[in-house]
Amino acid sequence: MRKQIVAGNWKMNGSNELLNSFVPALAEEAKQSQAEILVCPPALFLGDMRRLAGEYLLVGAQNCHEAVSGAFTGEISADMLADMQLSHVLVGHSERRAIYGETDALIAAKTKAALNAGLTAVLCVGETLEEREAGRTLDVVLGQVSAVVEQLTLADWANLVVAYEPVWAIGTGKTASSEQAQDVHQAIRAALAEYSPEHADAMRILYGGSVKADNAAELFACPDIDGGLVGGASLNSDEFISICRSAN
Ligand code: PGA
Repeated sequence: MRKQIVAGNWKMNGSNELLNSFVPALAEEAKQSQAEILVCPPALFLGDMRRLAGEYLLVGAQNCHEAVSGAFTGEISADMLADMQLSHVLVGHSERRAIYGETDALIAAKTKAALNAGLTAVLCVGETLEEREAGRTLDVVLGQVSAVVEQLTLADWANLVVAYEPVWAIGTGKTASSEQAQDVHQAIRAALAEYSPEHADAMRILYGGSVKADNAAELFACPDIDGGLVGGASLNSDEFISICRSAN
């Protein structure tokens, strides 16, 4: 059975106060949880969060640069994240695609940089409302997945997680129904199975987009949904812990 993951993406939110009040409780939760619990705070908080997180709570970044080091003012490399004992990095979040113009090629390069540094990359994919309404959901999502996977070896897949996040469900309070989500997750797994059925079966595919305490259990119970990537609800400790308890 695949171990589920509940990942919190704080985006550009949070504070030193939130870190100090919430992370110790979450670290305690992670110790007892059947699932893996991951938090991705803004880069500024990564070092302190890593120290507060203890042995079981996983800490990851929201982005990395594709180069190892160099003259890239304001950027952080995957190697630096690994050097800070972090384990994960999000790549290809729809906000980075839409606001910062990240392309599939750049996202593939960032994914490779993360894997080369020994991190696990959480590859985010998802269609816009316009694309869904035009019947292009699977074209878009499977295209985003294959653009990255084609640049990797099967051995790399051990450190890859996919997060399906329909753009129209992010931060809108509109969650995909569990059927809509399951359909896309199943299609992603089937596309991965064309490379290797065994590796596809082992791949964790998370759902993201308005995951809340009151819808998490139904989503996480779907056969191809292996946990969630949670934005807004990951900033409230009671709510996030309750979502964590819906996993596995
Ligand atoms: P949301 O964000 O849970 O606030 O919809 C999810 C995400 O963007 O990762």
